[in-house]
Amino acid sequence: MHIARTISEMRVALRSRRVLNHTVGLVPTMGALHDGHRSLLQAARARCDIVAASIFVNPLQFGPNEDFARYPRTFEADCRMLEAERVDVLFAPSAEEIYPAGASTVICVEGVRDRLDGASRPGHFDGVATIVAKLFHIVQPEIAFFGQKDAAQVAVLRRMVRDLNLPVELAVCPTVREADGLAMSSRNRYLSPDERRQALVLSRALQTAETLARRGESNAARLLDAMRKIVAAEPAVKIDYMEIVDAHTLLPVEDTQAGALVAVAAHVGATRLIDNVLLPPVV
Ligand code: PAJ
Repeated sequence: MHIARTISEMRVALRSRRVLNHTVGLVPTMGALHDGHRSLLQAARARCDIVAASIFVNPLQFGPNEDFARYPRTFEADCRMLEAERVDVLFAPSAEEIYPAGASTVICVEGVRDRLDGASRPGHFDGVATIVAKLFHIVQPEIAFFGQKDAAQVAVLRRMVRDLNLPVELAVCPTVREADGLAMSSRNRYLSPDERRQALVLSRALQTAETLARRGESNAARLLDAMRKIVAAEPAVKIDYMEIVDAHTLLPVEDTQAGALVAVAAHVGATRLIDNVLLPPVV
């Protein structure tokens, strides 16, 4: 695996590998890789001739009181996973390389950026859209792979790709979970054993919504009520948002018959976790 630290090095590495009709796949990450990331790498390897991954803890998407400084950085272990999944090129730039002094262009996906995580983390999705647009321009992938785990991020990026006519397909991969249901996340390593157990109410609540919906309940208020009762069993879990929304606009829906995104974010101790399920349309 070639490791490129600069934009020009990345461009040269890709140019020398890409031949006519080659498909380049990109898996953007912030590192601290786990099996959720692995599933994206595998999906990319299955569909693309050249697989590029990036590791960049993007300062622009962290708020002033968030965990940028202590975000887990496990570069060597990450490289072992990338090698094992046969990634061809890794882009691992410095913050100065990506945001040289004076950089002032930001991509703002109006409306969608203010919903769900965007409401609790002002500016977060501007940071995400900006770095992903830059990565698309640097790598020029035909397909880019993202996780359904970050459903609001997917909605923001889909809108950006559409609005800016970016020549890239977004491939969205299902959420990978631990055996007990907890959605895998780089932030799970912040959890104490107690918090780890308490956090399970989130996936349990989502699972309940899914089961109720499958049995015919499509009233969003009633689904949310049932979920709130489950989360309330763990007072240490503080809900940030719990919403049932349209997966594209992220606006609340009252009825889930046409399909809906059930999304939750909560603080478990000092750690903020997110999770979601997609309810399919009732046919
Ligand atoms: P990061 O949190 O490292 O996640 C990288 C990719 O892995 C994202 O597309 C995310 O949705 C996916 N992912 C994380 N956990 C997953 C899981 N349990 N199952 C499936 N996929 C999972 O998301 C980011 O980084 C950043 O915002 C980024 C897009 C790289 C821009 O900085």
